[in-house]
Amino acid sequence: MTLGLAALSLFLLLGGYRNSISYGSLEDLGPLVDSQANAEIQAAFRNASTIPGASRPESQDLLLALSAFFNNRSGERATGETSLALIDRGGRVIPGFSAGPASPYLDNAAVTVVQKDSAPVSGGDRSPQHCRVEVQGYPPLLCVSMPLSPAVLEAFPATEAAAIIVAKPAASLGEVVGDLMPRLLFSGLIGVAAALVLGFLLSQSVAAPLRNIARAARSVARGNYRQRVPATGPTEVRDLAANFNRMTEEVQRSQQTLRDFLANISHELKTPLTSISGFSEALLDGTIEDPTGIQRSARIINDESNRVLRLVQELLDLSRIESGQVSMEQDDLNLNELFEHVTEVFALRSEDTDVKLEINLQGQPKIRGDFDRLEQVLNNLLDNAFRHTPPGGTVRITSRNFQPDVVQVTVSDTGWGISADDLPHLFERFYRAKANNNQKKGHGLGLAISREIVRAHGGEIWATSEPNKGTTFVFTLPTAGRPARKPANR
Ligand SMILES: Nc1ncnc2c1ncn2[C@@H]1O[C@H](COP(=O)(O)OP(=O)(O)OP(=O)(O)O)[C@@H](O)[C@H]1O
Ligand SMILES: [Mg+2]
Repeated sequence: MTLGLAALSLFLLLGGYRNSISYGSLEDLGPLVDSQANAEIQAAFRNASTIPGASRPESQDLLLALSAFFNNRSGERATGETSLALIDRGGRVIPGFSAGPASPYLDNAAVTVVQKDSAPVSGGDRSPQHCRVEVQGYPPLLCVSMPLSPAVLEAFPATEAAAIIVAKPAASLGEVVGDLMPRLLFSGLIGVAAALVLGFLLSQSVAAPLRNIARAARSVARGNYRQRVPATGPTEVRDLAANFNRMTEEVQRSQQTLRDFLANISHELKTPLTSISGFSEALLDGTIEDPTGIQRSARIINDESNRVLRLVQELLDLSRIESGQVSMEQDDLNLNELFEHVTEVFALRSEDTDVKLEINLQGQPKIRGDFDRLEQVLNNLLDNAFRHTPPGGTVRITSRNFQPDVVQVTVSDTGWGISADDLPHLFERFYRAKANNNQKKGHGLGLAISREIVRAHGGEIWATSEPNKGTTFVFTLPTAGRPARKPANR
């Protein structure tokens, strides 16, 4: 297409170009002819004046001399399609004074100047002037006209002759095209070949990486999540490949999470369900007959089924908060009330375990949130703290203003602490620290649920710990005056 457009515009531009080619060659030829003709006239003039007794040359003599010159020219092949003519002061070709292929129809033809601001025959200026000869029924001729030299004109004062013109048919478009065509075709072929090679290379640099990505996508669709594609080709394609890899990684990760999750649930359910099934079977087939045994078995069955129930409840809760199905209330709350409430709940536990529970409330007590859900967070954190703190220790709840409209609540203990390896994973579902103590084990869901609740309030939760010294959990909450913020995007 580009080559086609280039060719079309070239043809349109050639119109002006062909005239300038023709004028160019005429301008070269003109002065030669002019000087020869003038030389011939002067020679004729000298002859006439040196022959004794001959009369002073007449204007007729000039014409005779010139006609001899023209007649010589007519025979010469060198003129080719070029014609010569003598024009009078009125700009007309003097009949009989023309030579060359156009001479038969040049007699009396009118010559018009195409160069501005001067007549075809002008006194002093002897530089060639562009002109045109148009004769009805014949192709127009381009010409240059050159005034006869002043010396000649002086010698023949009465002559009508004023200038010599050298004329040539305007090159037709066909001729110009015919002349240029082989070259144009050749350069066109080079252009087409270059376009094909470059186009092929370019399409390969885009198509090959895209084919790779398509193949990888099919492979991922079949379940091969390890598939990665090399990032090659132009920037956009590399970008696509990088994003494809990132997406595959994410899919692989979430598949792994799902698998782990199912494995964890099965594992968590297996232990209690095995007990329930074992004890109920023993009761049914009469293996356990004595009333204390029956009593014990029934308690175990009850405990274990409660454990399963709690697990299912927690899981449901977690998934509902995660999927945004549970909307948090946006009430104005007083932290004091919340702290007092949990202190009451844990008072007995504090006595039983001989672990002190201290409360230290500083700064802004007004916060915005859901009382029950925030109580759930504190219950989880306090339950963990009591579980992992040996007798004689202390569990402390404090609050302080972190930023003007953010309150920070801290639950710290003087327990065994958490190792640096476990810290980053604490908030994952089913995660339990390896170096766990002999206390009764939970499901590892408490912190995952707590984090979801805090995030749903627009806050964040984190933990710091020093093994054998204690652990500190910190979470932030918006104060009551602050407009509700969108919860963190998951
Ligand atoms: N204060 C703490 N001191 C030491 N370790 C802790 C503390 N809090 C949490 N952990 C560790 O983090 C793990 C995860 O806690 P999380 O509350 O999520 O689960 P859990 O208490 O084991 O079970 P659940 O809360 O579901 O009953 C715990 O198993 C425990 O090993
Ligand atoms: Mg817990």
